[in-house]
Amino acid sequence: MSPVVRPRRLRTTPAMRRLVAETRVHPAQLVLPLFAREGATEPVPISSMPGQVQHTRDSLRAAVVEAAEAGVGGVMLFGVPATRDATGSCATDPAGVLATAVRDVVAEVGDALVVQADLCLDEFTDHGHCGVLAADGTVDNDATLVRYGDMAVVLAEAGAHLLGLSGMMDGQVAAVRGALDDAGHADTALLGYAAKYASAFYGPFREAVESTLVGDRRTYQLDLANRREGLREALLDIEEGADVVMVKPAGSYLDVLADVAGTSPVPVWAYQVSGEYAMVAAAAAHGWIDRRAVVTEQVTGIVRAGADAVLTYWATELAGWLREAM
Ligand code: PBG
Repeated sequence: MSPVVRPRRLRTTPAMRRLVAETRVHPAQLVLPLFAREGATEPVPISSMPGQVQHTRDSLRAAVVEAAEAGVGGVMLFGVPATRDATGSCATDPAGVLATAVRDVVAEVGDALVVQADLCLDEFTDHGHCGVLAADGTVDNDATLVRYGDMAVVLAEAGAHLLGLSGMMDGQVAAVRGALDDAGHADTALLGYAAKYASAFYGPFREAVESTLVGDRRTYQLDLANRREGLREALLDIEEGADVVMVKPAGSYLDVLADVAGTSPVPVWAYQVSGEYAMVAAAAAHGWIDRRAVVTEQVTGIVRAGADAVLTYWATELAGWLREAM
């Protein structure tokens, strides 16, 4: 006997499939991470992230204009300084590479998209950790919070609309909120990298920012085995005043993302990180997978799991594909 219930009816034509699609990705929910390199006169290709570069001041402006024209919702800026020291001094220098990049980008496209900056010390410290070190070599949580507060004020003064707290120190959202409010920056939004896992998928990023890290970040980033703890971190960040929370990386942590999205009263974002990018870029370069199809599938999967927005190095290109498909 032939079946009466035929789910295939809803898959018969492109128009039908479009009408019943449960998930749609829009360019406005994409955020493009970008690297600004101090003193660069030419864009420097990042070999482990084909298609991505460390930007000069000019090429950075061109990239954000392109992103804005594609309808991308925001950019997330990272700085690659020329010099590093134990406390990451350049991070709190108003003339430093990241604050300069923020000012340049705000001046160029400040009304067209949300200008965001990474708030962390790892690019700026000579030891490569996300905070300052105690005498015994461990990362000093509370001394780091003071540095984050100072860095936040510098970046807010440069005009950043939103700061991404990616350092995974306990209490960082509350500390930075307090520092910003005291300095008169109550409107600067905070993205808590709430559930940021100690992940091998960050490998290519370390080349991108020329990280000097020896060892790992397992004493502050989450253990990849833990699902419940991801939700706990998100709830803590929300309690501390995070305006948005993040799950990172995205692809291997969709369970955590779904948990957080199911509970969070604030927007939940996810970061498709450098290693996720590099693997697709490499396989596509061999002709082993269809890049456009795979990127679309991955980002749709991340949104389907519950992300309200996605940080992805493909943001501009994907925005173009999405427009074509509209
Ligand atoms: C740390 C930071 C990292 C990334 C974003 N912010 C690296 C790390 O924690 O080691 C990784 C992003 C990516 O891999 O694309 N400030």
